Amino acid sequence: MTSLAPSSFDLISPTALTAAYNRQFSNIPYAFELAQLVDAKTVLKQPSGDYLLKIVVPLLEIRYKAVNHLIARFSHTQIIELASGLLPRGLEMSERPNITFVESDLSAMIDLKKQLVTQLVEERSNLHFEAIDATIRPSQFPIHANYLRDSEKVTILCEGLLMYLTFPEKERVCANIREVLWHYGGVWITPDLNTKEQWHKMQETNSEVGGMFQTVSDLTGRSLIDNSFNDIEHARQFFREQGFGVEEHKMIEIMGEGEVFCKEQLGLDPNFVKYLLSTNSIFALTLDS
Ligand SMILES: C[S@@+](CC[C@H](N)C(=O)[O-])C[C@H]1O[C@@H](n2cnc3c(N)ncnc32)[C@H](O)[C@@H]1O
Repeated sequence: MTSLAPSSFDLISPTALTAAYNRQFSNIPYAFELAQLVDAKTVLKQPSGDYLLKIVVPLLEIRYKAVNHLIARFSHTQIIELASGLLPRGLEMSERPNITFVESDLSAMIDLKKQLVTQLVEERSNLHFEAIDATIRPSQFPIHANYLRDSEKVTILCEGLLMYLTFPEKERVCANIREVLWHYGGVWITPDLNTKEQWHKMQETNSEVGGMFQTVSDLTGRSLIDNSFNDIEHARQFFREQGFGVEEHKMIEIMGEGEVFCKEQLGLDPNFVKYLLSTNSIFALTLDS
């Protein structure tokens, strides 16, 4: 499989607007404000449909909150988020002065993000913005940045990135993350171990899902299905070969149904919310010793 030219990644960036649009139905701090600022609905043709709204909106809210729960369990004070897009986590977490938060994305996207954040809050000395293509070798990660402390561990995050990347690209992300974790110690938290098995199950539930995959693929030039792991054992094996141990947490084990705010907004069936929480996972990856 050949890897695509780096500029092809920019085609993925509009998906961050879709995510921002869908997060505005949650009670995630700053999600509504960010979505309004970019006017995501008019900037981008949303893959619309009632069913999609009812599946994508809760999934994005659950994913965000589950990542936050796992961050809290590790309680590292230095956070590097890859492919931040329009996620509000940097804004939310940097309200705590003991946290150093690094938001990163491709340069056009991180420039936009910085500009939007500046419209919402005063500049914060513990919130940094870096242009990082996570797949580039040698790494663009801030290994020796003067705002990071060698004595403290780092939590690296990405949500909604790996499923767009080919396997050679994922390997380069792994190599870059390995270097950071070797240097500082810490953990990589991500829900991105999506599998073909999972996508196929989703497609079976409703015909709109297949249409959404096609829209994403037309928009980004990348197939979510082809770039996914066959099943969870394939994902574990891939990361083992890249030097990582994988700890899986079912979303339902780390967060409660009551936390899913959008279920009232969208009139979701509580059993459906329970189903989403029990069929989706989040992962903590650490270096094998
Ligand atoms: C689906 S969006 C997810 C954004 C955000 N994480 C969220 O959950 O809303 C995918 C993001 O990946 C970013 N991206 C694509 N290729 C990338 C790369 N090679 N390195 C870093 N970020 C990349 C895009 O710019 C976009 O912001």
